[in-house]
Amino acid sequence: MLIITSANSAKSRLKARRMCGISGVVLTTGEVGPLLLDSLKRLEYRGYDSVGVATVVNGKILLKKDIGKIGEVESKLRIGELSGTTGIGHTRWATHGAPSRENAHPHTDCNGSVAVVHNGIIENFMELKQQLEAAGHVLRSRTDTEVVAHLVEENLKLKIGLVEAVRRAALKLTGAYALAFICADEPEKIVCVRKESPLVIGVGSGANYLASDIPAFLPRTRTALLLEDDEMAVLTCNQVLVMKVESGEVVAREPFTVEWSVETATKGGFPHFMLKEIYEQPLTVRNALRTQPIYLELMASALSRASRIFLLACGTSYHACVAATYGFANLAKVEVTPVIASEFIDAYGALVDKDTVVLTVSQSGETADTLTAVRGAKDRGATILGLTNVMGSTLTRLSDVYIGQNSGPERGVAATKTFTAQYAVLIKIALTLARKRNTVGSADLQRFEDGFNQLPQWISGTLSSQKDNVRRIVEKNSDKISFCFLGRGISVATALEGRLKLLELSYLPAIAYPAGESKHGFISVVEEGYPVIFVAPQDEAYSKIIGNVMEMKARHAHIVSLVEGNDDQVAPLSDEVIQMPSAVPPLLTPIVFIVPLQLFAYGMAVTKGYDPDFPRNLAKSVTVH
Ligand code: F6R
Repeated sequence: MLIITSANSAKSRLKARRMCGISGVVLTTGEVGPLLLDSLKRLEYRGYDSVGVATVVNGKILLKKDIGKIGEVESKLRIGELSGTTGIGHTRWATHGAPSRENAHPHTDCNGSVAVVHNGIIENFMELKQQLEAAGHVLRSRTDTEVVAHLVEENLKLKIGLVEAVRRAALKLTGAYALAFICADEPEKIVCVRKESPLVIGVGSGANYLASDIPAFLPRTRTALLLEDDEMAVLTCNQVLVMKVESGEVVAREPFTVEWSVETATKGGFPHFMLKEIYEQPLTVRNALRTQPIYLELMASALSRASRIFLLACGTSYHACVAATYGFANLAKVEVTPVIASEFIDAYGALVDKDTVVLTVSQSGETADTLTAVRGAKDRGATILGLTNVMGSTLTRLSDVYIGQNSGPERGVAATKTFTAQYAVLIKIALTLARKRNTVGSADLQRFEDGFNQLPQWISGTLSSQKDNVRRIVEKNSDKISFCFLGRGISVATALEGRLKLLELSYLPAIAYPAGESKHGFISVVEEGYPVIFVAPQDEAYSKIIGNVMEMKARHAHIVSLVEGNDDQVAPLSDEVIQMPSAVPPLLTPIVFIVPLQLFAYGMAVTKGYDPDFPRNLAKSVTVH
């Protein structure tokens, strides 16, 4: 996760974060250049704003890298023609700053004798960078990755060899990483290390491979082994040695045979990108929460000076904004107005001036309605804050300050992982503002910190405990022709988003309402068996939603409820229950409670024979008005 600001002073402190692809090849004979090129093409779905490869030849590191898609960089630099039997490669998805050659991987140390590629986030890179610069190292990029090359360089001065130098460097890192190193003085090996970011090793004959994902080496070998967190591996052409980072102790690891086709492997073994992306959320939410505090501060400062604040977006991004309004009001005691971008200027243009701040949320950063509204606000003198998944997008160029949500490319047209990441960043911004305004106590702040730490487990726990249950609910309701989603308080946003997912993927008319409002009109629709889905965490709205469930029950609606594990009031009134974790802080519930609704929408689309990755009439980025 990273943030960029338009202020030059802040730009120099920027950090690169990414969801990239890394690869490595070590051979007995032949050239790794063409194999690296092929593996990077297969990993291009992980990122595609810049590419680079490095090999070791005659005691020197050869390196080629540049911005652009792989095809473009290949025709310019002929990266596939690099010679050498040992090499590493990288395809980047920048989430920090416009992609540049300087920030492209591989990165090297001062002497160019160590090269590294990285997927993940080094959280403590700022302090490491300061220490390294104080020791005389010269860093050339703005990435977090480059510090690791210099850390290894520093360790190599102790004459301990590459493996030990990498191991000691890894012990100093906090964050998430899959790193692969080559060294001019030890040309026969690649050393890699993993924590939280994916890394898999392909075991060949007279050749070994590493990659972020299996498709990278699938045409060459189907024998693979997985590195676990806090493990490292040393690859030579005829051996793979797995070790624990902490102790250096060698670990026995059985290889397995990959049965997947290349296409299935590209989807991580899932039948669709959407399902893969739903399951990525424990990681992408964690990455979203890794936003550097300094950049949250920049946004909070702009917000604290504003006399009027709008949250601007379309579709799913708008629902993240709706949820965030509860956070801004309850934590920071600040009124913010969420607005659908296409209505913004007509509804509020007359109120926008230089004291207005418009916090704009757009996964793609290219949605035409959103950009038009932003330009309208800019013309009236407003400050523009941007939250997006695509660095270098138009939104980043129009924003005075922007933050990347670090979700990696989202291939499914329906937004899933980008919704939870957007909301996670928005709630962090609200909390930062609250701290600045002294509107939250330390006990509450601690509760949020604990909640943030638990979110990945809550999501993965829900996925594993509810997937079969949701599939059963889908089967039972697959003949229904319309659905209604109801929630109160912050769960209104969850209901809105659950409804959008179902509607856009299953082509079923669906309704979402604040539950309290349903008796003012919607209730006339309800008849026996009409499916109503209640989002009912045990927050301050809980006692009221029980009454709404009863209203629907009295009209013989078919009630499906999302309730906490210890629920004893809504669950008994429900025909189907989706059990959610207990004690999720109310303002974090959208991140967890949306997950089964994403699964429900996915399941309905598949059951009806529709392709959830490509719903009809929709585009991933809507660039028309
Ligand atoms: C729904 C969906 C769309 C987008 C909307 C805004 O699943 O993906 O509703 O959320 O088109 O797109 P961005 O966030 O790119 O501005």
